[in-house]
Amino acid sequence: MDVPYQIRTHDQYLEAYRAAAEDPEVFWADVARHFRWRRTWDSVLEWNFTDPQVRWFHGAKLNITENCLDRHLDARGSQPALIFEPNDPGSPSQILTYRELHFRVMQFAQVLKNNGVQKGDRVCLYMGMIPELPIAVLACARIGAVHSVIFGGFSAQSIADRVNDAQAALVVTCDGSLRGAKEVPLKPVVDEALGACPSVQKVVVYAHTGTPVSMKKGRDLWWADEIERVNAMGNPFVEAEEMDAEDMLFILYTSGSTGKPKGVVHTCAGYMVWTNYTFINAFQYRPGDVHFCTADIGWITGHSYLLYGPLSAGATTVMFEGIPTWPDAGRLWDIVDRHRVSILYTAPTAIRSLMGFGLEPIAGKSLTSLRVLGTVGEPINVEAWNWYGTHIGGGRCPVVDTWWQTETGGVLISNLAGVTPAKATFATLPMPGVDPVLVDEQGEEIAGNDVSGNLCIRKPWPGMLRTTYGDHERCRQTYFSAYPGMYFTGDGCLRDRDGHYRITGRVDDVLNVSGHRIGTAEVENALNMHAGVVESAVVGVPHGIKGQGIYAYVVYRGGIDDANQIRRDIAATVSRVIGPIAKPDAIQLVNGLPKTRSGKIMRRILRRIAEGETANLGDTTTLLDPGVVDEVAAGRIPI
Ligand code: WT7
Repeated sequence: MDVPYQIRTHDQYLEAYRAAAEDPEVFWADVARHFRWRRTWDSVLEWNFTDPQVRWFHGAKLNITENCLDRHLDARGSQPALIFEPNDPGSPSQILTYRELHFRVMQFAQVLKNNGVQKGDRVCLYMGMIPELPIAVLACARIGAVHSVIFGGFSAQSIADRVNDAQAALVVTCDGSLRGAKEVPLKPVVDEALGACPSVQKVVVYAHTGTPVSMKKGRDLWWADEIERVNAMGNPFVEAEEMDAEDMLFILYTSGSTGKPKGVVHTCAGYMVWTNYTFINAFQYRPGDVHFCTADIGWITGHSYLLYGPLSAGATTVMFEGIPTWPDAGRLWDIVDRHRVSILYTAPTAIRSLMGFGLEPIAGKSLTSLRVLGTVGEPINVEAWNWYGTHIGGGRCPVVDTWWQTETGGVLISNLAGVTPAKATFATLPMPGVDPVLVDEQGEEIAGNDVSGNLCIRKPWPGMLRTTYGDHERCRQTYFSAYPGMYFTGDGCLRDRDGHYRITGRVDDVLNVSGHRIGTAEVENALNMHAGVVESAVVGVPHGIKGQGIYAYVVYRGGIDDANQIRRDIAATVSRVIGPIAKPDAIQLVNGLPKTRSGKIMRRILRRIAEGETANLGDTTTLLDPGVVDEVAAGRIPI
């Protein structure tokens, strides 16, 4: 594909940045015309951040799968689109060319149609990292159904919440998934969830592990049987549904500062243009590149940079079912070697954990195919940044530190590999079209360099969220009310003397544990489900590998004979209610929590105690019972 909008020099970056700021409509129309449209737009951008309402390419008609699949068939029909690396290194990898992926997507699109799914219907996908997941995702997009992928580690309760919020008509799942030495059941968890989900008519089950599962008559269908039915119908060319630019493409649930995850909504055209533009520019994609994003498709990184960005660019994308440390800590390097990966995109957590195994797992692996390295999801420490660049990149590969969020659809702040300067621990510079603003607590803009504040974005960009599903007011409240006229990211940020941005972490009650976003309120709700828990407070604590760990203070009712057993039970409750990713790293049983006279929990104090700061706790005079603090500090659990 000819990509005239690829930025190739620092000067071109400055020029693109200036042009996008000066006249966004001309700039983005000029990018967008390189895509396949059924009809072009009446207007490029209409927006206000009060409602908020944002419309990009209004009036245009398209289907994102025609841009990710059909339009590549002539030039690269036999090029690998998807390389699947299974969990077991002894099993053969699977390669799907663009032509094959196109075919399989249409087959499954027909399965969805045969089961009554129509444009606008919501479909939830709860699967492992196997090719059938992207096939199902793209099949939804093909027929205009709204996909909502639920990370395969979430609990039955979390599934039920998401399915009900989306009022999903159909669920696609597997019998189970494989993660290292473990087999994770999926269908039984779906069964448990769907007891409370009356909207679901059908469940399509892909047999992956071969473990027996129960199938509910009239509701549950085997993937293979449904494909057979489609094949019996003859050639399944499923015409792509014509979508409005602003029709919903997908919902992805993410955590915020309340107990209830919200359904971030992305729409067709702007998301497509943004993921493509940022993929091509941040990673400096070149035709022939093999791109390996290690993220799970259950998170936004997998949506944008394992699927839509690379496929819309005609790239070869690698999908890995397993985990980086199984059967040994050389697995990622083995995959890089085996598939001659040129772009590797992973999380700081993974880098830190692999660093711990030393250089031995890298020995004997050829990493010479690598050209660009990327990180995402959390702040990276300088040691991990250096190790990655030196030992994985061989000192040759630029490292891009990409800052963005589920809500932003794609990268907002990042260096462009080898084109704009890299700086350890800095995401550096905004993408063209992104106008970052630092504000103080009063909402005043902090101008100039060598300053820090809360990070807001002043102008709309094509990939931004449009609403939170079923509750537009919540979207306005969460993102557009703290600093009127701006999108508030929830992140703290500093701008150094060169004008480079460094994200310092969340300033709200959201934790980032191994790059997974978890609300403290969500964990507290889960803790409180345990019969013995009277009250709880959760804070984040620095963690050497995970970035942040979860520290829970729990007021426990009744006698404590075996504190360890109680803690294990409480932790199991959190796993059951949310999923293992939310399991606290420490649970401290306390008699009371430090509160103000008005009953507000003093999280600042709890955070400091968890961090190990038990002496200088700041002002405690406003506390209802200052004595509580000493008791809590004395019982601190080091992690
Ligand atoms: C939060 C968003 C971006 C996709 C994966 C996570 C943190 C993300 C960086 C980075 C420092 C980062 C922020 C952000 N974050 N990337 N490069 N440097 N922090 O998406 O689950 O929506 O989480 O992740 O705190 O707000 P998410």
